[in-house]
Amino acid sequence: MSRSKTKKFEANRENPNVIQPGKDLFEKVKGKWRDLYFRNNNPIVLELGCGRGEYTVGLGEANPHKNFIGIDIKGDRIYRGSQEAREKGLSNVAFLRTKIHDLLTFFEENEVDEIWITFPDPRPKKRDLRRRITNPRFMKMYSQISKSGSVLHLKTDNQPFFDYTLEVLEELKISSLEMTRDLYNSCYMNEHLGITTKYEKIWTEKGSKIHYLRFKMI
Ligand SMILES: C[S@@+](CC[C@H](N)C(=O)[O-])C[C@H]1O[C@@H](n2cnc3c(N)ncnc32)[C@H](O)[C@@H]1O
Repeated sequence: MSRSKTKKFEANRENPNVIQPGKDLFEKVKGKWRDLYFRNNNPIVLELGCGRGEYTVGLGEANPHKNFIGIDIKGDRIYRGSQEAREKGLSNVAFLRTKIHDLLTFFEENEVDEIWITFPDPRPKKRDLRRRITNPRFMKMYSQISKSGSVLHLKTDNQPFFDYTLEVLEELKISSLEMTRDLYNSCYMNEHLGITTKYEKIWTEKGSKIHYLRFKMI
């Protein structure tokens, strides 16, 4: 492992805002995020596949009365968001290092109030369909941990992934869908507070349009 990665992993072990294997909270936090970590009763917002956690930190800064948890399997990516949240003194921001598949291990039914999925891996191969994080199995898990009526947001550059997600939502008979295939020239743009993620920058620089949708979970 490179020296830089080792340093980041050491920092994650020290930083209380990173919940990961080996820490007490990792085993205990299910259903108790408000009591054991945030110590308030505020709504909980997740960013799935958060990478460096641009939304987790950006929304956390803009919404001090909500709690934000960035989730990713890669510790060196989470490190960036964790450091930034600490530097900004954001006590309403945490990062959970785990697989999205394992959400039910960390969240109780109805514990979550909102979910953001930001530039997920598109998994274009048919054999990887079960790993696409908007497939029906994942959607069911999101609705299990969320309060009824919670909003799920998806932002992606990838049109086939976006179309696939729309098909899934149609099958699930979601009726509250709002969407745009060109976020930057849409009425939804202001709501994003100018937050852009690493992958968003990469793809917009290459000329891709940003697709965005949101709907209420049932
Ligand atoms: C394309 S990157 C996007 C990162 C960030 N949201 C952005 O927009 O810059 C996808 C991220 O999802 C994470 N990821 C993919 N599949 C995952 C899974 N099953 N569980 C946890 N994290 C996952 C990867 O580690 C990676 O950081």
